[in-house]
Order: sequence, then C-alpha cells, then structure tokens
Amino acid sequence: MRIGVLTGGGDCPGLNAVIRAVVRKAIDHYGDAVIGFRDGWRGLLEDSFDELTIESTRGILPRGGTILGSSRTNPYKREDGVARVQETFSSHNIDGLIAIGGEDTLGAASRLHEDGLNVIGVPKTIDNDLAATDVTFGFDTALHVATEAIDRLHTTAESHHRILVVEVMGRNAGWIGLHAGLAGGADVILIPELPFDIEEVCRLIRRRHARGRPFSIVVVAEGATPKEGTAMTLQTGDVDEFGHPRLGGIGQQLEREIESRTGFETRATVLGHVQRGGTPTAFDRVLATRLGLAAIDAAHDGQWGRMVALHATEIELVALADAVAEPRRVPVEEYERYGVLFG
Ligand code: F6P
Repeated sequence: MRIGVLTGGGDCPGLNAVIRAVVRKAIDHYGDAVIGFRDGWRGLLEDSFDELTIESTRGILPRGGTILGSSRTNPYKREDGVARVQETFSSHNIDGLIAIGGEDTLGAASRLHEDGLNVIGVPKTIDNDLAATDVTFGFDTALHVATEAIDRLHTTAESHHRILVVEVMGRNAGWIGLHAGLAGGADVILIPELPFDIEEVCRLIRRRHARGRPFSIVVVAEGATPKEGTAMTLQTGDVDEFGHPRLGGIGQQLEREIESRTGFETRATVLGHVQRGGTPTAFDRVLATRLGLAAIDAAHDGQWGRMVALHATEIELVALADAVAEPRRVPVEEYERYGVLFG
C-alpha cells in the first residue's frame, strides 16, 4: 500500500513515536511506501511532503515535537480545500491516510472520510479531552512537567510566605489542572468545568493561614472562568481556524484579585508551551508506539473512518465520528470528590 501520514493541531510529546512505529511496521512488515505530509492538513492542500523511510525515522522515538511539522490548518476553511486534499491523495496514489491529531484534526478527518477519503485517526493531545479513548498520549508528559513545576513552586512559596498561582493548559478541559494539582498537593484547583467563586478561593487561602500554613499553591486551568456575578471578567480574543479563542491570562488576573482581597503577597507563573515541549515520558512513548502499530494494522484491514483508542489495557478501534462528537471533560462529581483536600 501507499500510506500517507500527517500530524495536525498543537504538537505534543509522542508524535514522533507514532510516526516511527507506523513507518517501521508499514515498510518492514507490510512492504508499504509511507508519504509524510508536512504541517498537518496544509501538506495535503499544498502537496508538501517527504517520503518516510526506516533511515529517516531513526532516533526519533525520544524526541518531542514532530518531524513532520504541524499546523492548525482546516481544509474546510479553504476554498476548494476538500478537492485539493483529494487531488493530492490521487496524485500520490495514496491508499489511505493516518491522521494523528486532536479534536480539530480528527474532526476534519472524520468529515473527509464522509467525503470519501480513506482515513484512520490516532488520538493525541496534552489536553486529554478526546472522547472514545481512556487517555491520549502527550497528557502524561504534560502532567509530569506541570507536577514538577508545582513541586518547585512549593518550596519558594513556603520560603516567602506567598500565594503562588500556576496557570496550566488544557483548553476547555481541566484534566491537566486537576491531575497536576492533585499530584502536586495544590491547595486550590480551578478547572473550566466548574466556574469558581473568587471569594471562596480567598476563603480557602485565609483558612490555611489561620491553620498556620502561610503559603498556598493555586492551580488554575487556562480555561477556568469565574462564576457570573463574582467580580472577575472573562477572556476575549482572536479565534483560530477551528473557532477556538487563544486562552491564557487567568493566572495573572487571579494574582491581582487574591492579593488585593487577602492582602497576602501573590505571584503567578504561566507554564504555557513548556508543557508541550521536550521528551515524552516512557508511558507516552509506549502508548504512542502501540497506537502507531495498531493504526497501520487498521489500514491494512481497511478500517477506514475509525480511530485507534486505549480502552483499559487494550488498543481497540472506535468510529472517528464518535471520538470527535463531544470533547471529554472532567465530570464535576469527580472534581468535587477532591474538595476535601483543598485549603
Ligand atoms: O490543545 C493543546 C493546547 O496546548 C491547549 O492546551 C492550548 O489552549 C492550545 O493548544 C494552545 O495553542 P497554540 O499553541 O496554538 O497557542
């Protein structure tokens, strides 16, 4: 077969491990040719590609990012986008495409499948917000980075008797915030799924002080918002080709609010893209490798329109359309279960 591969959306650690696994099994086991399209869907729109070989993919397993490049290009936002993707497909005699991405890239893959393209999806994102899989690769690495940062901030918060606010990524899902906050022993965790009351945040911090702990760690997910009528304003800004606003800034807002309401010295740290860069954890390398091997097998089984997914300990196939129907967010009951650990 002739197999196309692309990586789209925000990059994350483990993408290269998928590419390597696909290429190894495609070439060595099946005798395929593998065409890597550059920068996500842009590669198919602009016919920008590299042939991938065993040689060209050597040594990439532990490397973060993606050797193919990535972008947030949406073929459905471009004139003749679908026709151009189909044209590139035919001109390379591609039998099927392995699209490695999150809800946006796989959302486009699902629509392109309905429009007649042979596509298999592989779920990636540090946000861990894709439905139909228990976990996405990249999440574990982001979690380790965020947890290590919280551990480091703890010691300086304690020395200076300060409140340290840590803003983490995750878009509209609180998985990184909740898990890094739990792992790092945060005193307050704020996630997008449950709008917060700034006065309640301050109450928890004051209670800690009253109990003889004059420092606190507040973990806030970038998509967290204040409850209506609680005197903090929401973020506004530009949107990308998939309609997502650029998030960020809630950490600094909290810094100002907490300091002015409690009188305790407060500082904010925004972890940002540090969470997405660098080498994947062993867990992410193994998961990404398993997903890559399953994806090339699925292509040879003609399982187009499906996504490889982790269910408990097994890699299984699910419908791409189910995976992108709704993002997977933190259930509020799950968040509330941990409330006893706050403050
Ligand atoms: O989806 C991954 C992610 O890192 C989100 O957590 C974040 O909101 C977004 O991408 C940032 O996107 P960009 O790199 O385009 O600024």
